[in-house]
Amino acid sequence: MLEFVHAGEIVSLPQVPATRTLLQLLREDLGLTATKEGCNEGDCGACTVVLGEKQGDHIKYSAINSCIRLAHSIHGMALWTAQDLTAADGTPHPVQQALLANNATQCGFCTPGFAMSLFGLYQNQVCQGQPVSRDQAQQALSGNLCRCTGYRPILDAAQQLDKPPLVRQDEAHILAKLELLAQSGQGLEANLSYKCPTTLAALLKLRADHPNAQIVAGCTDVGLWINKSHMAFEAVLDVTRVAELRQISTEADTLNIGAAVTLTDAFAALLVERSQLHSFANRFAGLPVRNSGTLGGNVANGSPIGDSMPLLIALGASVVLASLRGQRRLPLESFYTGYRQTALAGDEVLIRIEVPRPTDGEFLRVYKVSKRFEDDISAVCLAVRLHLQDGIVVRASVGVGGVAATPVRARQTEAVLTGQAWTQTLVATAMTTLRSEFAPISDMRASSDYRRLVLGNLLQRFWLESQGESDIQLAHFSLEGATL
Ligand SMILES: Cc1cc2nc3c(=O)[nH]c(=O)nc-3n(C[C@H](O)[C@H](O)[C@H](O)COP(=O)(O)OP(=O)(O)OC[C@H]3O[C@@H](n4cnc5c(N)ncnc54)[C@H](O)[C@@H]3O)c2cc1C
Ligand code: FES
Ligand code: FES
Repeated sequence: MLEFVHAGEIVSLPQVPATRTLLQLLREDLGLTATKEGCNEGDCGACTVVLGEKQGDHIKYSAINSCIRLAHSIHGMALWTAQDLTAADGTPHPVQQALLANNATQCGFCTPGFAMSLFGLYQNQVCQGQPVSRDQAQQALSGNLCRCTGYRPILDAAQQLDKPPLVRQDEAHILAKLELLAQSGQGLEANLSYKCPTTLAALLKLRADHPNAQIVAGCTDVGLWINKSHMAFEAVLDVTRVAELRQISTEADTLNIGAAVTLTDAFAALLVERSQLHSFANRFAGLPVRNSGTLGGNVANGSPIGDSMPLLIALGASVVLASLRGQRRLPLESFYTGYRQTALAGDEVLIRIEVPRPTDGEFLRVYKVSKRFEDDISAVCLAVRLHLQDGIVVRASVGVGGVAATPVRARQTEAVLTGQAWTQTLVATAMTTLRSEFAPISDMRASSDYRRLVLGNLLQRFWLESQGESDIQLAHFSLEGATL
């Protein structure tokens, strides 16, 4: 039985197939057609809905793409669609009023998706008494595409959400319903084809018993295999309810991030001590993808152009793998054994990523070069972490994406840098080494020559930033990154 709270009531649905997407459930099974289907691959935001999860005494609201989210994954949560905004007496929600007042909709196809991203922003920002800045508006709408209106009026609408009188959700009522669901104990664990354990022990037992089950976390990669490659799975093993995999903890030297922590929360944790990662974090996909996708999913998927891995390699991160046989820890770069191949055994799951905390003398930057500034995957990604002492590079750690079959550590470049005086001359030598260390392929994202060239240029940019050059150089470089 799949159960969730919608429009203030508990919805119970028997026999929902394991790979039914939330969008299919809404449009085809429940007839809730206000939620639109555009790309069906997480790119356009037409299908955006908002999920609510109990967090202490509050509800945590997250805008997500329903097209690449499995229906069962919302079990025990609250759901809002574009159909739920207008009040019972017909009064439009402030989100709808703001879109209308700013002429922010033309053909209207994208509008329900924009409205839901704005509803998420409204709940998280406006209802907390906070005004919406332009930057926050852009972030909230980073996963929504509009082909005809133009973004200026939509962003204007986002900044005027606080004009109409405040409309609050009846959180006490929804929390009571969520509590009822939690207590009813009608979990999905017993479902034959959708397995959703809540403890690590249960997860490892299920993994051992069902080695052919498809592990799914946020489904932002797997969703495309289902929708675009029409892959069918014998069973789905959802790791997102396992308490141990959702934890973030800080130890003396290490930040531990559970594999099923969302990208939004994982980046927030990384930003606490490394605020320079802010703009990189915001360029990972768009907000709805970051709200579903997990750090563990990014790492385990092992794409050579995955964004978190070059950074994590430069940070010296390790992965912790677990099975009924026990746990083992590997440096992240040793986790990858070939193109989209990892060291994970058939009975293992990735449970945690361990990230060393910053120490004195660290200078860290990460650069992503992609065709679009937002919601696009890297052509090249470079992360560099140096430890400098009295002008000498005492430690160099360089992670690279987009230049090999897997995310890689640039060992030769690290060797050139280590123990040397940090000067433009050293940087020039290291740029040459970095450009020749890998043999990237040419594909639709970039040519091999371009990848090599830009890799060296990014190291030069790192040098300039280490010397305090920022505004002019940065504006120039980000423009390059955005338009190439
Ligand atoms: C529109 C869009 C934009 C995107 N932009 C970016 C981007 O900018 N940068 C980027 O790097 N990626 C991007 N992605 C890819 C994707 O969002 C990320 O790779 C994400 O981190 C995947 O996490 P997930 O939880 O959704 O993984 P899932 O899709 O659930 O799983 C991915 C893979 O990891 C495995 N897996 C997941 N968790 C575990 C675990 N605990 N143990 C073992 N195996 C596990 C699954 O079996 C599967 O093989 C984008 C995707 C979309 C749809
Ligand atoms: S339909 Fe385009 S993001 Fe879902
Ligand atoms: S209003 Fe037509 S696509 Fe946005």
